[in-house]
Amino acid sequence: MSKVVRLDPIGQEATVSTNDHLLSVLLKQELQVLQECGGRGMCATCHIFIKEGMEHLSPVSRRERRTLGVIATCQHQSRLACQSKVVGEGVVVELPSGMYLSEMSEIENLIGRRTEENILHPLDGRVLVETGKLITRSMITQLKETQSEVATQVATSQLN
Ligand code: FES
Repeated sequence: MSKVVRLDPIGQEATVSTNDHLLSVLLKQELQVLQECGGRGMCATCHIFIKEGMEHLSPVSRRERRTLGVIATCQHQSRLACQSKVVGEGVVVELPSGMYLSEMSEIENLIGRRTEENILHPLDGRVLVETGKLITRSMITQLKETQSEVATQVATSQLN
């Protein structure tokens, strides 16, 4: 059986099979989801808000609850897309704003320009660089350090 999921605020709809993860909805719509932890429920990069239909998703697991607990922008309707299976009709997803710290080459291209949206930490979603800030070389150095810390932390948690 298939289910329709709506994405706000972009107003798109996607059809998925029952028990498919919400992550597959996002990927079907060609949204860039960094999946820093490889879809294992341990990062902030697939964090979404459920506007309607929370009861039509699989329950929150212990791991998901723990990860949501450290995400700075977590609200009561927060879920991790890679951990939420669609089990019923009527799910409406809202995508949080901001871009996650990802490819440094992409960010390096922004040196001397102002950010158009917040740049977020991939593990806890906190704002690393606010919208409208001028990207400087020293900022890039700091972001690179953050990125290598994130890589180490993800690699360590994948071993456990
Ligand atoms: S991709 Fe990391 S928690 Fe979903």
